[in-house]
Amino acid sequence: MMSDNIFDFGMIGLGVMGRNFLLNMADNGFSVIGFDKDAAKNTALEGSATPGTTVKGVSELSQMIGLLKRPRNVMMLVPAGQPVDDVIASLLPLLEKGDVIIDGGNSHYTDTLRRVKYLHEKEIHFMGIGVSGGEEGARRGPSIMPGGDLAAYENVRPMLEAVAAKVDGTPCVAYLGKEGAGHYVKMVHNGIEYAIMQLISESYAILKAAGLSNQQLHETFKTWNEGKLKSFLVEITADIFLQKDDKTDAHLVDVISDKAGSKGTGKWTSQDSMELPVAVPVIDTAVAMRTLSGYKDERIKAAALYSTTAADAVPTQELIDKVYDGLYFATILSYAQGLAMLFQASKDLQMDIPLPEVVSVWRGGCIIRASLLPVFVNAYKQNPELSNILLNQEVAELVKSAEGNTRALIAHAAQAGIPAAGLMSSLAYFDAYRSERMPTNLIQAQRDYFGAHTYQRIDIPGTFHTEWGQQ
Ligand code: 6PG
Repeated sequence: MMSDNIFDFGMIGLGVMGRNFLLNMADNGFSVIGFDKDAAKNTALEGSATPGTTVKGVSELSQMIGLLKRPRNVMMLVPAGQPVDDVIASLLPLLEKGDVIIDGGNSHYTDTLRRVKYLHEKEIHFMGIGVSGGEEGARRGPSIMPGGDLAAYENVRPMLEAVAAKVDGTPCVAYLGKEGAGHYVKMVHNGIEYAIMQLISESYAILKAAGLSNQQLHETFKTWNEGKLKSFLVEITADIFLQKDDKTDAHLVDVISDKAGSKGTGKWTSQDSMELPVAVPVIDTAVAMRTLSGYKDERIKAAALYSTTAADAVPTQELIDKVYDGLYFATILSYAQGLAMLFQASKDLQMDIPLPEVVSVWRGGCIIRASLLPVFVNAYKQNPELSNILLNQEVAELVKSAEGNTRALIAHAAQAGIPAAGLMSSLAYFDAYRSERMPTNLIQAQRDYFGAHTYQRIDIPGTFHTEWGQQ
């Protein structure tokens, strides 16, 4: 017979992420309870618990709330949007002042801000936390990006630290700022994720066009994953090339439709970057290319209308080396843009996002974990107020070491007619960013010419207007 108030942590939504997160917590010694209306999910939760751990699934929310220790810690992993508000509405009559509600889904940070305020009035703590790492991460150690109420964070901190991925013994979780900061950081994480995935797909296109087989692609990515490109996304890409289709004799990757899906977090990153504004063109490009992938019918017509160009042959190993450096260069640029966005957003939206902690949390568990992250940790150690990691000396050396091959690679892709918008956009951003003087003086002149929008001069302070074309 179970006594009341015995569970440390409750979860609403026992899809695979919710279930795995709870099982992970139970393996770390916490007593956990989950709620899902679907009784089969409760059975699945209890059935997959490690023997000796305390795990219970119930199909009545009030039953779960009644069995939690106080103050209660309740997390939800449900789809973003209305379902989160519905869960909050169903929880409110059951909770008491001081209880903690955690939204671990990919909610938009403005929704989180609204919910923080709403629940604050009711003296309920609300935290938006980003959880990255997919199903396996949730089970074995995700990267966790909490933001919001600091007192509430301290309540759940031991549990989050226990379940999080560890790098050199340090848990990949830290308080990442006020109010909507956790979800903001996760949104930008996903923007960077979109960018790197786009860059990897372009690298694949270039190598495939050069005739590399899936086996050779596998070996190439596997080798890359042992060097400076070591990362989760490169690692799984190497695996993907080996996977055989279970319905035909083909490799699975070759029979997958090229229309890419998306759930919106990449788009949100781009949208919000423009609001700030901060330039994140590699992320914008990645979002646009997923959209363009959906124009299948038009692309078929355009493919027939516009023939491809023949490129000069490049020896295979030479090309692989160029792609290696190009992908490395553009990956650094993707992080640089995402982190610059966080730097600006932290100030403009008063979220106090600690960038040294963000890159530290991203070292393990999350989709964008990579051997580059410790380099960024060092950069922020030297200067926590770094507005762009490209201004760090060590990062600059890495970028410069890959710059020549990146230019050669992009020239090759352009000549061969291989779409490489992400790679190109990273180089274009780099060239603009390192320009002491951009050609935007001409834009200012044009604005003033047709619209009397005024301009500033380089030699005399003040604002000027000219009656253009009158001499
Ligand atoms: C993660 C992922 C995860 C999810 C993406 C997929 O960090 O674990 O980012 O949150 O897989 O949101 O996003 P798309 O469906 O938009 O590609």
